[in-house]
Amino acid sequence: MDVKIVEVGLRDGLQNEPVTLATEVKKELIERLFQSGIKHLEVTSFVHPKWIPQLSDADRLAAGLPRLPVTYRALVPNLRGLKRALDTRIDEYAVFLSASESHNRKNINKSIRDTIPVLREVVQLAHQHGKRVRGYVSTVFGCPYEGNVPVQNVVRICEQLLDMGVYEISLGDTIGVAAPLEVKHRLKDIMSAVPASKLAGHFHDTRGTGLANAYVCLEAGIYTLDTSFGGLGGCPYAPGAAGNLATEDLVYMLNRQGIDTGIDLDRLCETSLYVQKHLGKPLPSKMLQSYAAK
Ligand code: HMG
Ligand code: MG
Repeated sequence: MDVKIVEVGLRDGLQNEPVTLATEVKKELIERLFQSGIKHLEVTSFVHPKWIPQLSDADRLAAGLPRLPVTYRALVPNLRGLKRALDTRIDEYAVFLSASESHNRKNINKSIRDTIPVLREVVQLAHQHGKRVRGYVSTVFGCPYEGNVPVQNVVRICEQLLDMGVYEISLGDTIGVAAPLEVKHRLKDIMSAVPASKLAGHFHDTRGTGLANAYVCLEAGIYTLDTSFGGLGGCPYAPGAAGNLATEDLVYMLNRQGIDTGIDLDRLCETSLYVQKHLGKPLPSKMLQSYAAK
């Protein structure tokens, strides 16, 4: 089984932190993640700097990214964001929207209906520049404002994203409410519209179900999983959202089952300790805590 881990800590992890890391520290972190064996890195967002100040150095960071054999990814919400990203070393872009109306409005200031044509333009222009685009769907398993989100809404948005030409759809449990059996059932419905090979799992670990939900993805044939070093993460426009599933925790589980990720767990834990030092607080990953206690 070939599992692709997309490290989203520099974007999803840092976007919710009270401390903003300096661009040079982010670059050092990227080097260390690469040394740990990470190959896919979502490093920033070309969103409005007032909305996400922690990533307001997106242009500078992305233009000066270390030249490494990794795939650099970034979020782009609209054409303005894409135009900023095109001048940089970012290899792939990601567009994003929510399956629930209220979260979409809080997060990107538009209705779902009005968001679709904006994203379509982004994907078209990115393709003209030879760049691939991933699509994120948030609130797939629940919304902080509306609670339950009908699975038909998720399926409809996935179909619209596929129609735009995204190569992959990452399914976000934005507030970390999902439980494994529910993930299994929801995936079955979603996979009637999107093949497993085009899906990724993006689980926030707010209630400790992230790893179990990731395992359900693997059983369903979804081998791309988004994680964050140390379990850092959260969406400022989703109250109650906590960290992403920790990269260390997933790598430990996979390694222990004989699935090689190419990631050196000790080096990865050392990298998270480096982040801890800069953020001035302990990170939640269970694997990291066990490593630090050695
Ligand atoms: P808006 O205010 O509606 O934008 O923001 P607008 O189009 O009305 O423009 C207003 C001003 O913003 C204009 O400037 C634009 O030029 C400027 P003015 O003419 O007034 O001087 N502007 C921009 N500036 C820089 N970069 C841009 C940009 N766009 C417009 N890209 C916008 C709309 C989408 C920009 C805003 O709502 C925003 O930045 N939202 C950010 C939301 C965000 O980053 N959320 C977190 C990421 S999503 C997430 O975490 C979920 C995920 O992890 C999956 C999961 O867990 O579910 C992916
Ligand atoms: Mg997220």
